[in-house]
Amino acid sequence: MQVVHTVADLRATREALGASVGFVPTMGALHEGHLSLIRQSVAENDATIVSVYVNPTQFDNPADLERYPATLAQDVVLAEKAGADMVFAPNYAEMYPDDFHYRLDETDFSRMLCGAHRPGHFTGVLTVVMKLLNIVSPAAAYFGEKDYQQFQLIRGMAAAFFMDVDIKFGPTVREEDGLALSSRNVNLDAQARAQAPLMHALIDSDRSDDEIREQLTTAGFEVDYIVSHDGRRFAAAKLGGVRLIDNVPLGESS
Ligand code: PAF
Repeated sequence: MQVVHTVADLRATREALGASVGFVPTMGALHEGHLSLIRQSVAENDATIVSVYVNPTQFDNPADLERYPATLAQDVVLAEKAGADMVFAPNYAEMYPDDFHYRLDETDFSRMLCGAHRPGHFTGVLTVVMKLLNIVSPAAAYFGEKDYQQFQLIRGMAAAFFMDVDIKFGPTVREEDGLALSSRNVNLDAQARAQAPLMHALIDSDRSDDEIREQLTTAGFEVDYIVSHDGRRFAAAKLGGVRLIDNVPLGESS
């Protein structure tokens, strides 16, 4: 498997991979959720490229960026084991030769849910994903269902700009106790880790959004939002300083 760091090297080697390239963009610290997306791409395409880039323009909070895990050597091993053909791991100068003077804005759904609590977050996400898709030119790109708002915004962007790429999502992968896998979970201390699954248990129940907010707050979560929208219930809250997000389809509680 090849690891490339520059746009020029990616483009020089990309041709040889074939027409149907699947792409899994990540910020590294790969876990089973990412690996299931890589496997999905491997099954559906001639070749799979994984990007590992912690994109600073989507962090509204410098402390969150500072403590975001960076594990490239391990990510390369895991991506290869899952069947990826290439890892693209650029740096800021490579991704932002314009120093983020050009950016992509969505003015409706991106202002809701996570966008309402993390100003500028989705502008950073859409801008970097547009850049990555233009660099990699994949037939399909894969995103996690856990970040459902992100997935919908990226799918909307691809449609709005007539981009020739299939935007797909793979199901949220969970720990046995229901906690959605996230690269940020490593930052939960033992007490927060023990409490964290409560968020999924409640949003997947038949309680109202308000009841869930109240119960989580009582349990020590700092709730950003519990919102039912378009057939899904979305939740975001901080626990022990770590931001957790999750969502479930409505009416399918187990
Ligand atoms: O979901 C993520 O890890 C990131 O938001 C993404 C899509 C890789 C863009 O930086």
